[in-house]
Amino acid sequence: MIFDSHAHYDDAAFDNDRDDLICRLFNTDVCGIINVGCNIQTSKASVNLARRYPLIWAAVGVHPQEVDSVPPDYLDILSSFLAEEKVIAIGEIGLDYHYDETSRETQKAKFEEQVKLAKTLDVPVIIHDRDAHTDTIEILKKYAPKGVVHCFSGSVEMANEVVNLGMYVGLGGVVTFKNAKNPVLVAKSVPLDRILLETDCPYLAPEPNRGSRCDSSMIKFTADKIALERGISVEELLRGAKENALRLFSKISVK
Ligand code: NI
Repeated sequence: MIFDSHAHYDDAAFDNDRDDLICRLFNTDVCGIINVGCNIQTSKASVNLARRYPLIWAAVGVHPQEVDSVPPDYLDILSSFLAEEKVIAIGEIGLDYHYDETSRETQKAKFEEQVKLAKTLDVPVIIHDRDAHTDTIEILKKYAPKGVVHCFSGSVEMANEVVNLGMYVGLGGVVTFKNAKNPVLVAKSVPLDRILLETDCPYLAPEPNRGSRCDSSMIKFTADKIALERGISVEELLRGAKENALRLFSKISVK
């Protein structure tokens, strides 16, 4: 019943046991995974994982901190990836003002180019927004793509704006962290039909595994916490989040 809408199984953290781990996940509770690219190389790796594993799908895109090193024809490369049936979204793309290494103007330009490509190809976007809420919302309002703001870190008000734009809110392990106040408020307020669950693994393992290597099975801890806060069963939450993912990423089919 677990659908992980955001994972990075191409990461070197999985080099020693990737095959075993992924097979084990699909033999237990996990019914589907979207592996998300951050640059051309990891996008290509996502495509390869989707080719190899029936229950993995790929998103391809250039992350805001990677925009300085993209080749000039990167949009053509992303388009060619998206021609494959199991490549289902553009992501992760967006804005990251946490570190000042990459110019904000370059980030915005590349973000807009990729959102425009998603509109042209009619595919959803997976948005990364770190400390850049105002500019992120401005660009999403301008283009109104379908998609999800992953690992959502904004306020309840911003979550409402995302929902009003017709988009989804991605919730992950952060909601289980002891100091998580705002993420919990958001997790309680977003309509059930707009929640996606995710890991961002190998990062952001939920409590009680915080700090260790994360994998998709750990979504159960995140789901437990959100279901408890919302006063619903964990089954209802997992089922709802899976249905939402299949509605948004409509090229995906799982049982
Ligand atoms: Ni990610």
